Amino acid sequence: MRYPPHLLEEIRSRLPASEVVGRRVRLKKAGREWRGLSPFNAEKSPSFYVNDQKQFYHCFSSGKHGDIFTFVMETEGVSFPEAVERLASEAGVALPAPSEASRESETRRRGALEVMELACVFFEEQLAGRAGGRARDYLAGRGLDGEIRRTFRLGYAPPERYGLRDHLAARDVPAELMVELNLLTTGDDIKVPFDRFRDRVIFPIRDVRGRVVAFGGRGMSPDAKPKYLNSSETPLFHKGRMLYNHHAARKSAHDTGRVIAVEGYVDAIAMTLAGHPEVVASLGTALTEDQLALLWRMADEPILCFDGDGAGRRAAYRALDVALPALQPGKSLRFALMPEGQDPDDLLRTGGPSAIDRVLDGAKPLVDVLWSRETEMSPVDTPERRAGLAHRLREIVGGIRDETLKRYYRDEIEARLRSLSPNNANRQPGGGGDRAYGRERTPFVPRGRGAPPAPVSPRLTARASPLLARSSLFSGGSSSREALIVAALLVHPELLAREAEELAEVAFEGADARALRGALLDLAAEGGASDAALLDARLERAGLTAAAGRVASLVRPGDRWILDPHADPVRLEDALRQAVILHRKAGTLHSELRAAERALAEEETEANFAWLRDVKGRLSVVAGAEGETEAADDGESS
Ligand code: UTP
Ligand code: MN
Repeated sequence: MRYPPHLLEEIRSRLPASEVVGRRVRLKKAGREWRGLSPFNAEKSPSFYVNDQKQFYHCFSSGKHGDIFTFVMETEGVSFPEAVERLASEAGVALPAPSEASRESETRRRGALEVMELACVFFEEQLAGRAGGRARDYLAGRGLDGEIRRTFRLGYAPPERYGLRDHLAARDVPAELMVELNLLTTGDDIKVPFDRFRDRVIFPIRDVRGRVVAFGGRGMSPDAKPKYLNSSETPLFHKGRMLYNHHAARKSAHDTGRVIAVEGYVDAIAMTLAGHPEVVASLGTALTEDQLALLWRMADEPILCFDGDGAGRRAAYRALDVALPALQPGKSLRFALMPEGQDPDDLLRTGGPSAIDRVLDGAKPLVDVLWSRETEMSPVDTPERRAGLAHRLREIVGGIRDETLKRYYRDEIEARLRSLSPNNANRQPGGGGDRAYGRERTPFVPRGRGAPPAPVSPRLTARASPLLARSSLFSGGSSSREALIVAALLVHPELLAREAEELAEVAFEGADARALRGALLDLAAEGGASDAALLDARLERAGLTAAAGRVASLVRPGDRWILDPHADPVRLEDALRQAVILHRKAGTLHSELRAAERALAEEETEANFAWLRDVKGRLSVVAGAEGETEAADDGESS
């Protein structure tokens, strides 16, 4: 049901955010705010803030923020209405009684859920009982027995025509309800509706609260048709708006900050067995925008895993097309492609959890997948073909709804397109191009090996002077800090062993920084992290030498000491750590800034003004901590 906004406001004003949050998080007063350790991430220094005036909390480590309702939802895993009910009674605010109609539909809904639960228990008992012998063998043969069988509540539908029907009828479930819930098959020429699921292994499909709302049934023989039979749409089940294993994934995604989506039920179970319970599966259809929205509520960059075959690749491309218009600053996808001919379940059995981890670690950013799809479609060896490619890409990027992100995508795509023209690498129209740095051009690097074709971010080339590079902090970029982080590690690869994990998680905007980070992480993964010669050779091979030069030239004069191979290691490590923290903080603040701007555009309230001022204030603190004082300047370098 819907709650009138003034009631929600009433509840918020009676229950200080610090009081609700304070039950879970130990808070200390910090100026006008309260501060504590994030309940969403394990952390040592507090980055979780609560503001009673603004009635919200903000967690810098996870980027999560919201009010008392979202806090209760997030930390206790309850729905919005539940959170409202609970807090309303605490605050002594009376909620309107549900209308007759909504009460009736609520009762029906509850009845339907009870019936699905009865059916689920029936299937579970069948699997455990005498009838379930063959199904148990089948599942055991696939490694799905014991604990995991109970966790996923696997079951078995016996072969009889009226097994489930009789079982439910004996418990006073009306036949119409069984039909409505798609437990029975019916039709014009079927006199007596009979069990839909017969002689199949049952995978219960549960909603976000863990309640059974549908079933998937797998035939056990290789020629069963169809292989999987699912419930069709019912009042409880909307396959385009739900995800298999959502309820369990939501809890784990909370802890790990990531979520993985796979194609099949068994694949989701396999991922769980491989140590990744933060996994969901789509429900036999291509991923929908609604499902993407659910994924983005769990993590900023869900990893989509596709089977290593033509169909998997096509599914990945389709998902890309669905996602692209809906991308938001900070919200994207990564794509993990399984080895040829394998799905996650196969891979777990042939390669074990480490094989799964390798695939997940190699997940590619969306922009790379888009780029490979479009460049692999046909050769780009003539101006006409390159123009065709440019045309397609511009049209696709034009479909991104978020204006800011669209601009960044345009920048990136244009830079990559320029790098395709062998004689034009790095040249900026009207700008000094690479000569401004006194460096050679980046040679055109053909696709291959991990790193994308050394794309050049226009920011890095067009804004050559240190002054302008600095100012980019204010325009949403932070190239000098990125440069500092990457350059420090390039000059002192021995720091990598400790920093690799952190490095993998930092959001870099510059394509150079990202490509170099890829090379650094590869090196760290191979254990060669302290070898500067090895690193140089690798950069050379990946065509990243020029990128390294460009990045180094962006380090601010005051920070150039880090480029000295003999720099004080303690000071160095400190500077690096500081830069990473600031970088993260600026990243979340920029998202918050955009949220605040949007809020103000929607509603010009005093609270929204105050919010915007507050974010800007905090942003300038972060900027000030870096000694950044110049105002933004978007002019071109000479
Ligand atoms: P796959 O054909 O990839 O099967 O279907 P799978 O997940 O590898 O299953 P196993 O390992 O052979 O048991 C992927 C998903 O597509 C849906 C199901 O949701 C399945 O998990 N599907 C597939 C159907 O709905 N019907 C079908 O006939 C086949
Ligand atoms: Mn499979």
